[in-house]
Amino acid sequence: AYSHAWIAAVPKIELHVHHVGATSADTVADLAARHPESGVPTDPSALEEFYRFTDFDHFLQVYAAISRLLSTPEDVYRLTVGNLADLAAQHVRYVEMTVTPNGILTGGVPREGLVEALDAARAAAARDWDLTVNWILDIPAFTGEPAEVVMDLCEQRQPAGLVALGLGGPETPRADFAAYFGRARALGLGSVPHAGEASGPESIRAALQVLKADRIGHGIRAVEDPAVLVELADAGVHLEVSPTSNVRTRVVQTYEDHPLPTLLAAGVPVSINSDDPPMFGTTLTRELQIAAQLVGSEQIPRFLRNAIGASFASDTVKRSYL
Ligand code: ADE
Ligand code: ZN
Repeated sequence: AYSHAWIAAVPKIELHVHHVGATSADTVADLAARHPESGVPTDPSALEEFYRFTDFDHFLQVYAAISRLLSTPEDVYRLTVGNLADLAAQHVRYVEMTVTPNGILTGGVPREGLVEALDAARAAAARDWDLTVNWILDIPAFTGEPAEVVMDLCEQRQPAGLVALGLGGPETPRADFAAYFGRARALGLGSVPHAGEASGPESIRAALQVLKADRIGHGIRAVEDPAVLVELADAGVHLEVSPTSNVRTRVVQTYEDHPLPTLLAAGVPVSINSDDPPMFGTTLTRELQIAAQLVGSEQIPRFLRNAIGASFASDTVKRSYL
């Protein structure tokens, strides 16, 4: 058995963490103080209250309010480096961080400024913490102009280390996004939509069949349809699982109800991730410790191997980790 201390110290991989959602309360308070018109509270106890979600839609509203705190490239750099430092402190060696550009650009950051801030933060993480950072750019569930903004970044001004296109926000029909994922595929980018979180197994089917998902964010509601479980296991499509996120957004009622054991029993490849850790009062280390409690700590090395195997890391980075 592996102890909590062993889990805390082991080199880690993070595949599903949102850029804005990974912001610590200290950084949020600091940015909020610089942008008082935002209405985001600045003192830690009020922030805790602000972070206490009533449901999934409320969570998405809080998320948008924090995105609006980013109005200059310097804001973006500070937030990003702070979040990468928090990962490095947990011995994360490789991260694919999901950036949703729309909320940031709406705050007044120019597209070039966003890309430069991400490039600079990525270089700082490699230099200062030996942390390899790749990016996923994420469409926030709207077709048309919002999605085109994301595609412009993918097609015309990629940040260094862009590896995949994501799809988050409210879980609208995944098939609506087929054209964008086709364009991303033509650029050599991976497909990593959220599916099977707020919506059921039919959403996972669409992600697999229409969006040609390489991995799926959450995907835990596959357990509602045994045929979808078989499809995932046969195709070896990996699920990025975040137990505390699922409890906090009320997708599952308690940790004991979490489908993780059923996913493992069905042979679906899984990794453990943190999603929006400070907003959910957790860390990647804690998610791995919770997973150890749910399915046994002997599964932890397998989760880490699954994560690196399902990553878009270069062969060099994969070899250095394994
Ligand atoms: N954006 C940030 N976290 C998310 C989640 N858990 N689901 C969908 N969109 C998100
Ligand atoms: Zn997510």
